[in-house]
Amino acid sequence: MSGTDRAAVVAGLGVWVPPGVVTNDALAQQLDTSDEWIRSRTGIGRRHIIAPGESSGDLAVEAGRRALKSAGTDHADVVVVATSTPDRPCPATAPEVASRLGLTGVGAFDVGAVCTGFVYALGVSAGLIESGFASTALVIGADTFSTILNPSDRATRAVFGDGAGAVVLRGGAPSEHGALKGLHLGSDGTRSRLIEVAAGGSRQRSTGLPPDEADTYFTMEGRAVFAEAVRHMTASVQETADRLGWATADIDKVVLHQANARILAAIAERIGVGSERFPSNIDRVGNTVAASIPLVLADANSSGELQAGQKVVLGGFGGGLSWGSVGLVWPDISTC
Ligand code: UT7
Repeated sequence: MSGTDRAAVVAGLGVWVPPGVVTNDALAQQLDTSDEWIRSRTGIGRRHIIAPGESSGDLAVEAGRRALKSAGTDHADVVVVATSTPDRPCPATAPEVASRLGLTGVGAFDVGAVCTGFVYALGVSAGLIESGFASTALVIGADTFSTILNPSDRATRAVFGDGAGAVVLRGGAPSEHGALKGLHLGSDGTRSRLIEVAAGGSRQRSTGLPPDEADTYFTMEGRAVFAEAVRHMTASVQETADRLGWATADIDKVVLHQANARILAAIAERIGVGSERFPSNIDRVGNTVAASIPLVLADANSSGELQAGQKVVLGGFGGGLSWGSVGLVWPDISTC
């Protein structure tokens, strides 16, 4: 993505959400919340949740299988899984996902950048292709935040859902439709505690003390994160557009991490591009973390909202803090 004559080109797209659905009304039966509050504050109407015993890896395998089918192949030289809810703390989820897809022996590793994970994984995978190390890559975003939410936290339980999405990248020319370009990545570790699971890692475990139960769950300082999300995704999308020489008015679709419908509206206003250029499926799936961007891409591609030849910028923001964007001219692919 940095001036070489070889590019990583999007060749396939596959997605999967578990069949279990939790509506806002169902949440309101367990918590002090309401359909009206959740819809008006977030734009979310329902979310999908895995069944007992299922995992992020299970969703990743299904999305990966579908992406390979969409690309018309059964092979990838490398499998990268973006997730912050791995099947186990150790080892990485990707090797087992690769083996379940019939790809034992290929390079396979996880990327942890929370809700920016898919953009980071695209960037790393594109680099492996551009360098000539790999001819094809399967890039999967899969998360099951339902497994790490505090059952009594109405703010996070209203927001997050489970899901997975994947793309196949292949080597090609920078001029092709689907070629990834204009990658921008950023982070701010001084604000890492705004989004965290405090316990379960080396810092807490090295104390030798059992964790407080509340620290074993995901926490997020919603208001502060909201402001950071608007600030950094706006700047990152603009940075990618600048790197590509695209005026923001020329961008046909801005496909962002689906954190909150009000965040999308605020960014549209700041960038000065109409909200109709921001595809959204947050009403149906909520915030699916690393799966969010491929899931909204798949919906927009299937509905015809996203058309081959359109200029697209993908953008993410999440824990770390981390953020990133990448551009492409949308290719002619069908979603599986
Ligand atoms: O994906 C990674 C990046 N994540 C984000 O970008 C998320 C950004 N943040 C948000 O989307 C929003 O901050 C939330 C949706 C998480 C929360 O919405 P908010 O409008 O920022 O609410 P708040 O946290 O400022 O809380 C306002 C009030 C509080 O009540 P009090 O203290 O004023 O009495 C909350 O307890 O809203 C209450 N509240 C709720 N009420 C009903 C929080 N969640 C709920 C709920 N139902 N589900």
